[in-house]
Amino acid sequence: MLFRSWQEPVERPWPDVVAVPDHVGVAHLVVTRHALVRQVLADPEAFRPDNALDAMTPIPVGALRILARHGFRLPATLANNGGPSHPEIRGIVAGALHPHRVAAQRPWLTTVVRERVGRLGAALDAGAPVDLYADLAADLPLLVLARLVDLPEAPAEVVKEFTRAALELFWAPVDLPRQRVLAEVVGRFHAVLREFAEIGGGLVAELRAAGHPPDAVIGALFFLLVAGQETTSQFLTLLLHRLTGTPEVLAGVRAGTVQVEDVVEEGLRLEPPIVTWRRVAARDTELAGTPVPAGTSLVLWLARAGRDPAVVAAPEAFLPGQRGSRRHLAFGAGAHRCVGAQLSRLEAAVVVAETAPLLADVTVLRAPWYPDNLSFRMPDALVVARR
Ligand code: HEM
Repeated sequence: MLFRSWQEPVERPWPDVVAVPDHVGVAHLVVTRHALVRQVLADPEAFRPDNALDAMTPIPVGALRILARHGFRLPATLANNGGPSHPEIRGIVAGALHPHRVAAQRPWLTTVVRERVGRLGAALDAGAPVDLYADLAADLPLLVLARLVDLPEAPAEVVKEFTRAALELFWAPVDLPRQRVLAEVVGRFHAVLREFAEIGGGLVAELRAAGHPPDAVIGALFFLLVAGQETTSQFLTLLLHRLTGTPEVLAGVRAGTVQVEDVVEEGLRLEPPIVTWRRVAARDTELAGTPVPAGTSLVLWLARAGRDPAVVAAPEAFLPGQRGSRRHLAFGAGAHRCVGAQLSRLEAAVVVAETAPLLADVTVLRAPWYPDNLSFRMPDALVVARR
């Protein structure tokens, strides 16, 4: 269940807090209710973020050697940093993603998306199938991120290969041969990041100037590249797929009776790209009466929290604007709440507004396939054709 949690039907009852062993026998305490997930996220004293990037499949010596050869290190910087350097690093990253800077991207982004949608529409008109993941969503968030944060020069495919390898290496059940392959991909690009962290401008220069050591600068860049674009391209794909099955929502968007922003929030609630997120108990404590010994890994089931009948009127229905729709925890909460929330919302809003007419008369030829992963959905394709 841990690696395919999105397949769990919402009507199957789950205890509020329950120990579930993973594929290597480590027990995780899965937290299923909205109020309890929130409680954990809001209490950084009892529940620390230190395990956020720990590999679910322990990395064996062979793969560690490969990483070491590339100088790979991943110190606590952002998501996994419960220490004193976190507020300042977060502040610098948040500055680069300031709502004003994000909002200023809208005209450019709209032009790019409109152009792409025009091309896709022409292909569909000519009777060809199109892949809304590959041809629209995959690299779009990376292009936007590169306008806000100075990034190393690298082709989008190389960055995507690296970030998807990182999501697999740290969050998936993987065997040794695969770990070696992934370690090579991740290590190789980490070396590119290291070089850039030493000389790059913008965000990395600010981090350097604030006195953060090279490993911390690389770590911030590493996480930002993974979190700042992979999540959003996954979300766009999930949302577009959902919309192909909800013609009434598409009609409402086109008629102006359904707000695009409500569609995005309902999408985040029902189709979050990050389905779970981890914390670790800092000391012996308890949660809803369940003892939680120090060191316990807690798997916060964000996707399930968004379907909690205690907060949303119709948990399984895609009803933009319904009561409770915005109370999802897709971006986490508390001190580590996603700093890219506004950016991803903007990207999704532009994509929904621009693609609604296109989606109205397509049929899905190939729905996304999702690999096993604790936290990330990672859709691989969404192929559609004219109905
Ligand atoms: C739909 C897209 C996205 C989703 C669902 C998402 C979700 C999340 C979640 C669940 C966390 C952990 C929160 C916690 O521990 O409480 C997080 C953290 C973070 N996200 Fe996002 N994210 C998205 C897009 C982005 C984007 C576009 C960026 C940046 C460009 C970004 C940057 C970050 C950073 C830097 C953190 C770490 C914050 C910290 O530890 O202080 N994310 N995100």
